Amino acid sequence: MTHFLPFLVTAMNRHSTFMCRNRFSLSPVALVLTVCGSLLFVSGCGKTPAASFRPNMVEAAKQRLKPEQEEQVATILEAMFGTPDNPIAMPETGLDIGKLRLAAGPVHSDIVGRKNGLFREHCSHCHGVTGDGMGPTAAFLNPYPRDYRPGWFKFKSTERADKPTHGDLVTILNNGIYGTSMPSFELLGEAKVDALVEYVKYLSMRGEAELNMMRYFFELDDEDEGKLPETRDFLVEEILLPVAERWQEAEDAVIEVPEMPEVDLAESIAMGKELFYGNKANCVKCHGVTALGDGQANDYDDWNKVVKQWSDEVQSSHEVSTKEMSREEKAEHREYLARADKALAGDALEPRTIQPRNLRQAIYRGGRRPIDFYYRIHAGINGAPMPAAAGTLTPDEIWHVVNYIRSLPYEFDGELGADRSMVARDRL
Ligand code: HEC
Ligand code: HEC
Repeated sequence: MTHFLPFLVTAMNRHSTFMCRNRFSLSPVALVLTVCGSLLFVSGCGKTPAASFRPNMVEAAKQRLKPEQEEQVATILEAMFGTPDNPIAMPETGLDIGKLRLAAGPVHSDIVGRKNGLFREHCSHCHGVTGDGMGPTAAFLNPYPRDYRPGWFKFKSTERADKPTHGDLVTILNNGIYGTSMPSFELLGEAKVDALVEYVKYLSMRGEAELNMMRYFFELDDEDEGKLPETRDFLVEEILLPVAERWQEAEDAVIEVPEMPEVDLAESIAMGKELFYGNKANCVKCHGVTALGDGQANDYDDWNKVVKQWSDEVQSSHEVSTKEMSREEKAEHREYLARADKALAGDALEPRTIQPRNLRQAIYRGGRRPIDFYYRIHAGINGAPMPAAAGTLTPDEIWHVVNYIRSLPYEFDGELGADRSMVARDRL
C-alpha cells in the first residue's frame, strides 16, 4: 500500500504544477483534481517539489515485481537517464544533451534569455511528464495522446516495426496529426522542434529501457537473488543498446518508393478498386464495403489492447476460487489483485476501441501526399490493426491502391447510401 503513495503524490503534484504554469481553463473533472492537488500542496505554486518520472505501474504489477525490484528499476533508470529536470544522455543513446536540456525541466529562461522547458510547456498536459500519454488532459481525448514508452510510432517512412527517423518526427511536430487533438508546432521554429523531437526519443528510450528491465527479472538465475546486475556492461548491452540501436538504425530503414507506374489514372484507379475489394489486399474487411470505415468494429490498438487484455485477465482472476489455496497463496493472490486494481485505476486509461479510417472524408492522420499513402499501405500502421501490404502487393499494385484511395472522397456514382443503412450514411 505505502509504495503507491509516491505515485499519488506525483500525480497530484503534476496537476498543481500544470495549474501554476498554464492558466488554461480546464474541464470540471480536471478542475476538481487540480483543486484537490493544490489543496494538498498549500505550500504554494512557487515551492512545487521537483517533478519526477512515474514508474510503469501496469507493467510492474503485471510482472508481479517485488517492491525492492521496483525500487531497483527506478534507481537504475535515474542513474541512466536522470530526472525530468536534469536529463542524462549516455553516449550509447546517441542523444544530444544540449537539445534535451532545452526541452527538459520546468518552463524558464536561461541566462541568455533562451526559453527552456519546452516539453512541459507544450506537450506534457497531453503526453505526461513521463511521456506515458497520461497528462491531465489525456482522459478527455480520443484518440488518447501517444504513450511513447513501448516505442511504437505510427506515421513514418520506415518499415512497420522500425523506429521513425528524426525527420519523420519533425514532420509530425510541424504538421500535427490531422483529425486528432495533436496540434502543429511549426511556429516554434526549427531549433525548438528539433529539441522536442530529441526529447521524445529520450522519453521513448527511457520507457523501453524500463520495460526491458521489468521483463528481465524473469530471466535471472538463482544466484542473482532476484536482483538485476548493476554492472555497466550488463546495463548497456542488455538494457540500453537493444533500444538505442533501433533508433540509430531507423535512418537507414526508410522504405524505397519506386516511381508510380505510367498507366492512365482512370485505369490505375479501377485496378486499385479491384484490389481494395479483392481477397489479396482485402482492405474491405476493415474499411467496409462503403469505405466508411465500418467493416470491422470493436478492435483495439496495441496500447489499449495491453490494458484491455490484462484487465480482462485480472477480472477473471477475481473470479478464481481461493478455496484450494494455502494461506500464503491466498495472501499472495489478494495482494496481486489489490495491486492490479490500483494500477488499472490509477495508471491506465479506460481502453478505447479503434475505428478503421473513414476513407471518404479526406482526413488522413499521416499526411495526404501520394508518398504518405504509399508508406501507410506498404508498411501498415504500427501499433494499429492496419496491416502491411508489402509482400502481398507488388509496388505497382500499391500505387494503384494509392490512386483508388485518393479518388474515394470524390467518388459518387449515385449508388452510395441508396441501399445502405442510415448509420453508415450518417457517418459520411
Ligand atoms: C492536445 C493534446 C496534445 C498535445 C498538446 C500534444 N500532443 Fe502529441 N499527440 C496527441 C495525440 C492525441 C496523439 C495520437 C494521435 C494518433 O494516435 O492518431 C499524439 C501523437 C504524438 C506523437 C506520435 C506520432 C506517431 O507517428 O506515432 C508524437 C511523437 C507526439 N504526439 C509528440 C508531441 C510533442 C513533442 C508535443 C509537444 C510539442 C505534443 N505531441 C503535444 C495529442 C497531443
Ligand atoms: C485489419 C483491419 C484493416 C485492414 C485489413 C486495412 N486497414 Fe487501413 N486502417 C485500419 C485502421 C484501424 C486504421 C486507423 C489506424 C489509426 O488510426 O491509427 C486504418 C487506417 C488507414 C488509412 C489512413 C491513414 C492515415 O494517414 O490516416 C488508410 C489510407 C488505409 N487504412 C488504407 C487501407 C488500405 C488501402 C488497405 C488495404 C490494402 C487497408 N487500409 C487495410 C484497419 C485496416
